[in-house]
Amino acid sequence: MLQDPQGRKFSYLRLSITDLCNYRCNYCLPDGYSCDSKPDYLSLDEIQSVVSSFARHGINKIRITGGEPSLRRDLPEIITAIKETPGIEKVALTTNAHQLDRKIQTWADCGLDAINISCDSLDPRMMKAIIGRDNLAEMMAGIDLALKSKIKQVKINTVLLKQYNYKQLDHLIEWVKETPISLRFIELMQTVDNTEYFKQNHVSADEIGQRLENSGWAQILRGKNAGPAKEFCHPEYNGHIGFIAPYSKDFCASCNRLRISAIGKLHLCLFGESGYNLRDLMVKGRETELDQFIQKILQDKPDTHFLHQGISGSTTDLAMLGG
Ligand code: GTP
Ligand code: 5AD
Ligand code: SF4
Repeated sequence: MLQDPQGRKFSYLRLSITDLCNYRCNYCLPDGYSCDSKPDYLSLDEIQSVVSSFARHGINKIRITGGEPSLRRDLPEIITAIKETPGIEKVALTTNAHQLDRKIQTWADCGLDAINISCDSLDPRMMKAIIGRDNLAEMMAGIDLALKSKIKQVKINTVLLKQYNYKQLDHLIEWVKETPISLRFIELMQTVDNTEYFKQNHVSADEIGQRLENSGWAQILRGKNAGPAKEFCHPEYNGHIGFIAPYSKDFCASCNRLRISAIGKLHLCLFGESGYNLRDLMVKGRETELDQFIQKILQDKPDTHFLHQGISGSTTDLAMLGG
C-alpha cells in the first residue's frame, strides 16, 4: 500500500475527469468563470491506465469528481471501467445533482457504489441565491431513486455559509430524521478568488458539532483510515450528520487520499502544491515506469497543508475543491 514518510496510508484516490461545470455556486465561482479553457481532459484509456496503476499500489476506492463529472458523455463507460479494474472495491461520484433523476439509474447499473450530492438548502429561494438556480425537484427525485437502487451510500454536501444557509440548518437536520442519508456540513474553504466572500461567510464546523452534541447527537468512532470527516448519529434519526472541517488542527493527520486532476497531474494535497504530471506515462507499455514514479512522488507528501503551517492567506485552487 502507498504510504508517506509520516506513516499515512493511502487507499482512496479522487479522480477529476473535467474542470467544466454548468453551475455557478457563489462559494466556488464568485466572480464568474470561463468554462472552456481546458478541453483536453484524460481519455477513457488514460483513466484506465492510471486507475490500474493506483490499484496495483493498494488504492481500493476511487471517487470521480469534477468540475461536474456528469458533463462528460462517457461517464457511464468511465464508471464501468473503474469498477472492472482488479483491486477497486468502491467507485464513488461527487455531483451537483444536475438532472440527477434522469441519470442516476444508469450510473447505478454501471456499478456505482456511493454518491455525494451537493445541496446547500431545502428552500428554493435560498438555493437560487447560493447556486444560481433551483434544482431541488430533480435532486429530490434523484435521491429517492438512489436510495431505491443498488447504490449503497448517499451523502449530501452542504457548505456552511454565514450570510446564507446558516440560519436554516435545523431544516436540513430534520431531513435526516426519516431519510437514511449522511448530511455533511463543509466548512467554507478559501480559494484564490473568494477572499472577501470567505471573510463574510466562513463559519467553524466545530461550532455546529458542539450544538449537536448538546442535543443528543453522539460522535461515531471511525476506523483509523476512514479519512478526515467526523460523523454523528442520534437514536431518533435514520440518517447521520457529518463535518468536514479543514481548519481544525487534527484534519491532516487522518488524510487518506490523493488526487489526480483532469489533465493528469497527481496532487498530494489540496492546498499549495502544483502537482506532478503523470500523463506521459499513462500509455500501454509504460506501466512499470508509472508505478515507480508514483511510489517516488509519495515521499514528498507534506505533513499538513499550509493553513496549519502559520502561513496566512493560504488558499487552494477552485478546481481542486471538486477534484
Ligand atoms: P467521502 O469519500 O464520502 O469521504 O467523500 P469526500 O468528503 O472525500 O468527498 P466530496 O467530493 O464529497 O468532498 C466533500 C468536501 O470535502 C469538498 O468540499 C472537498 O473539496 C472537500 N475535501 C475532500 N477531500 C479533501 C481534502 O483532502 N482536504 C480538504 N481540505 N478538503 C477536502
Ligand atoms: N469551500 C468548501 N466546499 C466547497 N465546495 C466547492 N467549493 C467549496 C469551497 N470554497 C464543495 C461543494 C461540493 C464539493 C465537491 O465541494 O459543495 O459539494
Ligand atoms: Fe460547479 Fe460544484 Fe463549483 Fe458548484 S461547487 S460551481 S456545482 S464545481
